[in-house]
Amino acid sequence: MGTVTPLLEVRDLKTYFHTKEGIAKAVDGISFEVNEGASFGFVGESGCGKTTAALSIIKLLPKNGRIEGGQVLFRGEDLTAKSDEEIRMRRWKDVSIVFQGAMNSLNPVMRISKQIVEAIRLHEDISIPEARERVKRLFAQVGLNPALLDQYPHEFSGGMKQRVMIALALACNPRLIIGDEPTTALDVMVQAQILDLLEELRRSLNLATILISHDLSVIFDACERLAVMYCGKIVEIGGAREIYLRPAHPYTRKLVNAFPDLELEKQRKTGKRALGKSIAGDPPNPLDRITGCKFHPRCEWAEPRCVEEEPVAMKVGADHRAFCWKWDRIG
Ligand SMILES: Nc1ncnc2c1ncn2[C@@H]1O[C@H](COP(=O)(O)OP(=O)(O)OP(=O)(O)O)[C@@H](O)[C@H]1O
Ligand SMILES: [Mg+2]
Repeated sequence: MGTVTPLLEVRDLKTYFHTKEGIAKAVDGISFEVNEGASFGFVGESGCGKTTAALSIIKLLPKNGRIEGGQVLFRGEDLTAKSDEEIRMRRWKDVSIVFQGAMNSLNPVMRISKQIVEAIRLHEDISIPEARERVKRLFAQVGLNPALLDQYPHEFSGGMKQRVMIALALACNPRLIIGDEPTTALDVMVQAQILDLLEELRRSLNLATILISHDLSVIFDACERLAVMYCGKIVEIGGAREIYLRPAHPYTRKLVNAFPDLELEKQRKTGKRALGKSIAGDPPNPLDRITGCKFHPRCEWAEPRCVEEEPVAMKVGADHRAFCWKWDRIG
């Protein structure tokens, strides 16, 4: 990292939802950075704030969600300070996002070529033939036969449609692509192919990627660096290899241990899943006001300090930090 300006630098980001029941602190002070061309991952149980973090970066939040603090610096420029309109124009050009099940958002009665051409022309002032040429190139880039350009979505399989969504995400040459569970709805073989495609694009285009998944094996396998989220907070962050070999936070340890022999590549291809589900206790509701460490009610090592004081980042390794008072004193 040193003197290199990260492509994306998120500092103490807070995004809250205002509900009848109170304020849900879905993202509550997270900081991380992603360098140009790097792969970063978010992992954690359902409801921990992964999607909210991603949507905050591109200001695509639901109406009752607000960024209440912090900064999202893209090439040093704070996106939280920009108007929604400005961000809308830059979405796709700087940052694109591919959602879970995105392929189902294709219009079934419009030729795929036309949908992509129209989408490109919303963002860029180019002619239809020019846009069409670009779509051909994009098709080839995502491993689709350009001869299929004028087909309708129902003529494509789920995996092919998700490739179309990735082509769409690439259409305006973004520097960062966020995939929010982009392969979760697909069967395992196709999942692996799509993850391989994202990796290939990252390398050939020097594109940074943020991959979000509840599946630890996917994140370990696909990302160089990762953050483990728990209840709106990052509890551990750093190099994927370091965290895999030496998980420091009790929550990460439980996630890793819930997944007995972690032979990543093989397991990803055979479809065994690593789920936080197998961890005892329920994840807390972001409406709850838990003092100290959010994980303390489920932590077998919690001591009074963990109930009273929120942990700060503790250095575990060169690029490895855990937010736990006790990480170096547990078995
Ligand atoms: N529009 C909303 N209004 C109120 N609360 C919301 C809203 N959207 C999300 N939340 C809450 O914010 C928290 C974080 O949700 P988020 O969708 O970011 O989690 P996630 O980690 O992406 O979960 P999943 O793995 O299920 O996709 C959850 O407790 C969720 O219930
Ligand atoms: Mg989500």
